[in-house]
Parts: sequence; structure tokens; C-alpha cells
Amino acid sequence: MELSTGYMGLALRNPLVASASPLSKTVDGVRRLADAGVGAIVLYSLFEEQLRREAALNAQLADTGAESFGEALTYFPDVAEEEPGPRRYLSLLERAAAAVDVPVIGSLNGVTPGGWADYARAMQDAGAAAIELNIYYLPGDPHISGRDVEQRHVDVLTRVKDAVTVPVAVKLSPYFSSTGEMAVRLDEAGADGLVLFNRFLQPDIDPEDLAVVSGVGLSNPAEAKLPRTWIALLRGRVGASLAATTGVEGPADLVKYLLAGADVVMTASALLRHGPEHAAVLLDGLSDWMGRKGFAAVDQLRGMLAVPPGTDEAAHERAGYVGALREANSSAYGDW
Ligand SMILES: Cc1cc2nc3c(=O)[nH]c(=O)nc-3n(C[C@H](O)[C@H](O)[C@H](O)COP(=O)(O)O)c2cc1C
Repeated sequence: MELSTGYMGLALRNPLVASASPLSKTVDGVRRLADAGVGAIVLYSLFEEQLRREAALNAQLADTGAESFGEALTYFPDVAEEEPGPRRYLSLLERAAAAVDVPVIGSLNGVTPGGWADYARAMQDAGAAAIELNIYYLPGDPHISGRDVEQRHVDVLTRVKDAVTVPVAVKLSPYFSSTGEMAVRLDEAGADGLVLFNRFLQPDIDPEDLAVVSGVGLSNPAEAKLPRTWIALLRGRVGASLAATTGVEGPADLVKYLLAGADVVMTASALLRHGPEHAAVLLDGLSDWMGRKGFAAVDQLRGMLAVPPGTDEAAHERAGYVGALREANSSAYGDW
């Protein structure tokens, strides 16, 4: 079975990618993912807040004077000990890239353009095969316009593209007035890949304790419908590679994303739930399914069920919506 795949110009042995998660926080973790068979690994993200903290620390150290460097460090034991800061991240990236024979992609999580470019370049120098920009931005200020939010995404991408030569992917949210246009703008601004979509970790409320509770919830396959819909719509309409992320639990979820048109399919929750070795289950399941359906190569099935280019997309979506409602209404309440 031919599973090899291209992603942003990188040659992958298969289309399954381990997306950013705590599983890639150590070299051993990265090795386990590679041994389980994934085609590429996105490291957990380096956060903009960490860049800022390190910059502040450096400034304070510079003020203190070079000769008192050792002593000055003791003023910041928490930062040095606890935070997996930028230097530690770059060191992990370098060792991970050397330890495995699949591409290791660095991930930056932030929202303002400053700082990203330098660290993207440093990630490239440390051996990152590509950079993923996880633009995690919930504009909580109700006065920020949609156009401003979109422009932020383009600005961050442009800065990073100017700074590196490796491919750059943007992991974005689905919450735009026109998600398709945002994707097209990023494509035109030079994105080599679009990763659809990041998941906002929305807080919940505990009514018994009268408290707001946060926490990282793992996904379920039903959540794959939204990214899958957009991948099917964007297939053939952007030059950037399309990466699917969210809701891959079993082999069928991987297959469905490929049929919709994903170049690669990412997974995090399932690997956290079942262990990195679950990647082999997903890949074996893909091969079995391809065998049953008579496909010899992933390229033969990719995008088979995408929205065909040239279709009136709005009419297509509307027809699907109306059709689905009609079906639901006729089964539950009779014809309308
Ligand atoms: C515990 C946890 C940590 C994560 N950390 C990151 C991160 O550092 N950077 C990032 O871009 N995405 C992060 N994600 C999001 C995942 O990479 C992925 O996009 C998301 O969970 C949807 O995929 P899934 O349904 O396969 O989990 C994290 C997800 C989980 C569950």
C-alpha cells in the first residue's frame, strides 16, 4: 500500500501527523511517536508569553551587569527551573530532530507579530523541518473589528515568512465571518500549509461550586465535522497544503478527512487517550480500508469527496443544509 504523501513540500512516509501535545515534550516522547509510525511530528508550542518572559529576564540580567550573571540567575529560580522556556525548547527541538528520521515541525503559539520572527528563525536553525504558527486569538474586546483580527493573522504570517526559508503553516480557528476568505488571504500571503482548526479551550461553569472551571478536554469524532466541511470546501481552491486536526479517534476518521481532501491528518487526543502506539492502529486501519476498497495509493482517494472546484459553494452548502433539514423533518414529523 502506498501511503507516502507530500505536505508543504516535505516528503512524508504517510499522511498521519502527531499534532502539538504534551507527548512531544521530551525526546523520548518524540521517539515513541516516530516508532509508532507517524509521518511527521509537530512539537508542543512555544508560547509568546514565554518569549516575553525570557526577553524581560534577559533585559534584567543585562541591567545587572555581565560579571554578576551567575548571582543574578538566582533571582529568577522559578523561570529557570519551571518554565520550558525558549532556550529549552530549542534544545529539545534540536535533539528531537536528530533523534528521529521523520520531519519535526516547530510550533509557535502567539498573536502579536513581534518576537515570532526571531524564534521562528531559531527553530529553523535548530533543525525544524517547518514552522507551525498556532494563532490562538480570541478577541475578547468587543471593539476589535473582524478585519483587524484577520490582519493580525496575515501580519504574523508575513513576518515569519520573511524570516525563514522552511515551510510555514498557519493553524487557525474556524471563527471568522468568512473562514474561506481568511484561508485564501493566508494562502495568498504565502502560507505553505493551513491547519484546520485549533480548538479553543472554553471554560465551563460548575454550578455546585459556583466556580469557573478550565481544563484541557480531549476531543471526540463528532467535532471533526466542522474542519472536514472546510477542508472539503477549500480543496482545490488554495495552493497551501491542508492539514486536518480535531476528532481523529479511529481509522474511519482518518479516512474521512482524506476523502474530504486533507493532505495530512493530525491527531493528539487519541494518542493521549490510548498512547502513541495508537498511531499504528490508525495506519493499519487505513491500509486495511484501502485494501477493501481497492485503492493502492493515498493519492487515489484524497479529495474524492471534496466539493468539486467550479461548484457554486454557497448553493452547495445551502442544498446540503436544506436537504438535511428536510430529511430530519420528514422522518420525525412527516413531509413539509
Ligand atoms: C493536552 C493538549 C495540549 C495541546 N497543546 C497544544 C499546543 O501546545 N499547541 C497547539 O498548537 N495545539 C495544542 N493542542 C491541540 C492539538 O494539537 C490538536 O490540534 C487538538 O487537540 C485537536 O486535535 P485532536 O482532536 O486530535 O486532539 C493540544 C491539545 C491537547 C489535548
